[in-house]
Amino acid sequence: MAETGPDQYLREEFNRWAEAGRGEGMEEHHVPIVEPTLALMDLQPTDRVLDVGCGTGWLARRLAASVPRGQVVGIDVSDEMIRRAQLASADIPNVKFLEGSAEQIPAPDDSFTQALSVESAYYWPSPERGVAEIFRVLCTGGSAWILINYYRDNPYCHQWGALYLIPAHLRWAEEWVSVFCQAGFVEVTHRRIPDLSATPEVYTGQWFRDADQMRQFKAQGALLISGRKPPRA
Ligand SMILES: C[S@@+](CC[C@H](N)C(=O)[O-])C[C@H]1O[C@@H](n2cnc3c(N)ncnc32)[C@H](O)[C@@H]1O
Repeated sequence: MAETGPDQYLREEFNRWAEAGRGEGMEEHHVPIVEPTLALMDLQPTDRVLDVGCGTGWLARRLAASVPRGQVVGIDVSDEMIRRAQLASADIPNVKFLEGSAEQIPAPDDSFTQALSVESAYYWPSPERGVAEIFRVLCTGGSAWILINYYRDNPYCHQWGALYLIPAHLRWAEEWVSVFCQAGFVEVTHRRIPDLSATPEVYTGQWFRDADQMRQFKAQGALLISGRKPPRA
């Protein structure tokens, strides 16, 4: 019987994004907020890193270069994103991609030393379930990092909600912090990652009213929530 429900709906929508080439296009937009995040993660050569909602895998490939004696696993609910990620990464030995949802991560407990998710978590049907799954698959002492551009504290992104064809969670930073704490993470913090890239003089896309609104959005920055998995009590 064909699968129905939120995962199927997400898969169909993000497969359309992938087929339109939007997966590859995201690298350019996300690099300015991802690079400062990678610096904070302080990756070690042997780290085992999970990328949740990896899209076509540009970030997983970067991560793989930072952990030459470790491994990177990218998961995504869209099989077309995963197919493209695999195609583009065939010659990289320490990266692999799996179809799967954040709410049911296809990995055993205690598999990873770091987990990162970029511009994905507000789409998850249950962020609570996704963050709890990340907690499960992290080793003791491992860190989780969720980076999102769509959150309530930044007033310059609220208009996106009306443009999404899938329901998206517009939450306060403190609500995301609670989700991490409820999952069991400690040392939970949130911070802003401003996008310091140049803004065009004229904006003609659909996401911002004009270049000035885009500039203000980027100055507010993305929201980065992080936490560490403590030793078992
Ligand atoms: C805006 S794209 C970001 C992709 C990539 N992280 C990047 O920065 O280029 C969001 C991605 O999250 C994936 N996604 C959405 N909901 C998901 C879920 N519940 N589980 C896993 N992946 C999900 C989508 O399929 C899509 O590839």
